[in-house]
Amino acid sequence: MAEIDQTRVPRHVAIIMDGNGRWAEQRGLARLHGHRVGKDSVRAVVESARKLGVQYLSLFAFSTENWNRPPKEVDGLMQLLRRYLASELDKMMKHGIRLVAVGTLRRLPPAVREALRAAVAATRNNTGMTVVLAISYGGREEMTRAMRDMARKVKRGELAPDDITQDVVRRHLATKDVPDPDLLIRTSGEMRVSNYLLWQIAYSEIYVTDTLWPDFRRRHLIEAVLAYQKRERRYSGIGAPAVIGAQ
Ligand code: FPP
Repeated sequence: MAEIDQTRVPRHVAIIMDGNGRWAEQRGLARLHGHRVGKDSVRAVVESARKLGVQYLSLFAFSTENWNRPPKEVDGLMQLLRRYLASELDKMMKHGIRLVAVGTLRRLPPAVREALRAAVAATRNNTGMTVVLAISYGGREEMTRAMRDMARKVKRGELAPDDITQDVVRRHLATKDVPDPDLLIRTSGEMRVSNYLLWQIAYSEIYVTDTLWPDFRRRHLIEAVLAYQKRERRYSGIGAPAVIGAQ
């Protein structure tokens, strides 16, 4: 396998983790089993991304649409999330990982919300890689909320409509402290962005692999980064984009 160019590691990698259900169905197992093995992929990818020098890793763990799945699957996923947060906290502290959560968190069961709150609070001052967990997240919902917040400020006279620039919009998103993803990975071969980080991926390189999420490990992340490094980022113009969450 070719070598990674350490000077051009994507600063922010975002992943749509897809294919857990199919992975399980192919083996005649319950869908939840696929999610369980998918949790092992999450662990492996967090560790590998950190070692590669990725500074921000965003993971789409649960979408607003996922609430429509059968209650048993939703409950199982919530339990997995809660256990993951509890079991990984020590490791996050040891490796200086900062956890950030985006999404409509008030919809989460109290035990998950509490585990999330505790992990976010405990890791707040860590200065290593930032993991941005999207839970009960939808990009359109995030943008709608930003518009509502700005409208309220306009109504109160705190913001003039003409002062609403792209940078002002960016600062009203849940990801305001996170640069835009350089690389968006989607597993299981689907060519969709599925309402993930819609504003933020405007200039991201997209990499789709047929590998199902439970099979996705370090080797696959490296393949994605190598593919990214072969691309010339043009931002449809010259140089860097006009709006970046990044400096
Ligand atoms: C997509 O597979 C995946 C999800 C809906 C959830 C992702 C969750 C995990 C990887 C497990 C735990 C997460 C963390 C952060 C510990 P799918 O069910 O849509 O698969 P399918 O398209 O084959 O049905």
